[in-house]
Amino acid sequence: MYRTNTCGELNMHNTGQDVILCGWVQKSRDLGGMTFVDLRDRYGITQLVFNMETNKEICEKARKLGREFVVQAIGKVRERSNKNLKMSTGDIEIEVNELNILNRSEIPPFTIEEETDGGEELRMKYRYLDLRRTTVKNNILLRHKVSQEVRKYMDSIGFIEVETPILIKSTPEGARDFVVPSRMQPGTFYALPQSPQTLKQLLMVAGFDKYFQIVKCFRDEDLRADRQPEFSQIDCEMSFVERDDILNTFEGLARYLFKQIKGIEFKEPFLRISYCEAMEFYGTDKPDLRFGMRFTDLSGSVKGHNFAVFDTSEYIGGICSENCSEYTRKQIDELTEFVKRPQIGAKGLIYLRYNVDGTLKSSVDKFYSQEDLKKWADIMNAKPGDLILVLAGDKKKTLTALSELRLEMGNRLGLRTKDKFFPLWIVDFPLLEWDEELKRFYAMHHPFTSPVPEDLPLMTTDPGKVRANAYDLVINGVEIGGGSIRIHDAAVQKSMFKVLGFSDEEANEQFGFLLNAFKFGAPPHGGIAFGFDRLVAMFGGQDSIRDFIAFPKNNSGRDVMLDTPSQISNKQLDELQLIIGGKNKKKLL
Ligand code: AMO
Repeated sequence: MYRTNTCGELNMHNTGQDVILCGWVQKSRDLGGMTFVDLRDRYGITQLVFNMETNKEICEKARKLGREFVVQAIGKVRERSNKNLKMSTGDIEIEVNELNILNRSEIPPFTIEEETDGGEELRMKYRYLDLRRTTVKNNILLRHKVSQEVRKYMDSIGFIEVETPILIKSTPEGARDFVVPSRMQPGTFYALPQSPQTLKQLLMVAGFDKYFQIVKCFRDEDLRADRQPEFSQIDCEMSFVERDDILNTFEGLARYLFKQIKGIEFKEPFLRISYCEAMEFYGTDKPDLRFGMRFTDLSGSVKGHNFAVFDTSEYIGGICSENCSEYTRKQIDELTEFVKRPQIGAKGLIYLRYNVDGTLKSSVDKFYSQEDLKKWADIMNAKPGDLILVLAGDKKKTLTALSELRLEMGNRLGLRTKDKFFPLWIVDFPLLEWDEELKRFYAMHHPFTSPVPEDLPLMTTDPGKVRANAYDLVINGVEIGGGSIRIHDAAVQKSMFKVLGFSDEEANEQFGFLLNAFKFGAPPHGGIAFGFDRLVAMFGGQDSIRDFIAFPKNNSGRDVMLDTPSQISNKQLDELQLIIGGKNKKKLL
């Protein structure tokens, strides 16, 4: 037997027991007569003690142990004289009488401790060492726990897990596909699924009325903290349901997970707001409602005072930050610089301080009397002590900029704490998005999303106004999940493809398998997919999903540990009948 116990389980109840532990040397301290070694495994750390007087030979061996050596220690559990209250094993230590070195280790390229000296790139290159660090290890354990709870819950309500293929067909909608060349049919390609969307719909046609799968999805898109080129979804689909059935079922899953993972029970049903409301009041379809600062549209109230910026603006919107009237000139200047950053793009920031003594001071005092400003403050529901921040300009851009400013104020005021959660549903998304450059409509969600039934007649007359029977689950400003009721009628699906600019032939070539299936009795159906990595990262209190994935890619889509993407041999290229063009051409010739 290699070990009788783990390094995380022994305590005062075990004193006097003979045990065998295995693990990695976290650190060792040589105090002359005594040597202490912290032995680590997945479960924790246990202190080993070696005594020069009672066992010189073993103590000398222990003195030579390097960091990350793999060892087996055989000894007796005893109470520690110098207890460490921070550790679950901190009351005891092992008096070692036999020490076996199972493997040596080179000096690791960074310290494997909470506060590591390893930069991101180095940590990713040696990810297996990074995964030994407690935080990263705990993230992976959390991921495991969430996936187990998801499976438990879904099974308990009658969903079955079905695997779908990874080599599928490339389709033109959505993000860019990752493609895989076929050797057996040279010149043709598979695509890796961006999601199993059409396949889960086919499972509904097949009669599996409640499907789920924790599944890998692949999207060749620009990466960010919450976006990886390969990520996981909790993908779900149900038959014979309407929108509210889906929202209730998956609100159930979210509630269950919050309870099991965080011990949180939400009393109220999740708030549901329409896409239009979200845009109008928060400037985004994923509002962070851990705090207020809802926008007030001032466009109809503050024009006509010879202030050209307002008079010429399509939209003027403000937020009211409580207890911020004492913001200094410097702080306001910082906010102005913030909104003027190119990625935010506002031209300037107008402020109105509602001083505690009831006086008002603004950056546009020249144009507005105290009474005007008071009216302004009243529309904003401001009270003495508040600071009003206003942006003006083109409506769409200003709403977006105001949304960023709102989040910045939320951050500055400490309102976006990680231990508070505000889940909500966004419903009634537009079905289509107009691409001004290409002069065509795109499906805002995907081409299989059903229009809201009463908007169906608009499909031919005013497609831009059609609402989708689609929904997103947003928590703390992050889109955690999204889905829709699907089109199950071949004629409606055809009209959708038509609006998207597909000819009958193109629609048949790309999606013939689905259109065909719809001819054989497709049930009404709908579904949702949760971003699994995002969900786990949120439970773990972090914005970046990277440390919740065992082997993630960096921001350029590289796996620096595997050193890939990488070139393949000319032999492989020949077998695939591929020739590399572009600027890499020469290298391969
Ligand atoms: P959607 O494209 O909205 O819907 O994706 C569902 C959820 O997946 C997560 N997500 C990502 N997570 C990490 N990295 C990415 N690159 C990434 N892209 C998306 C988000 C998102 O809410 N087939 C539909 C679902 C359906 O209609 O049932 C779909 O894939 O959290």
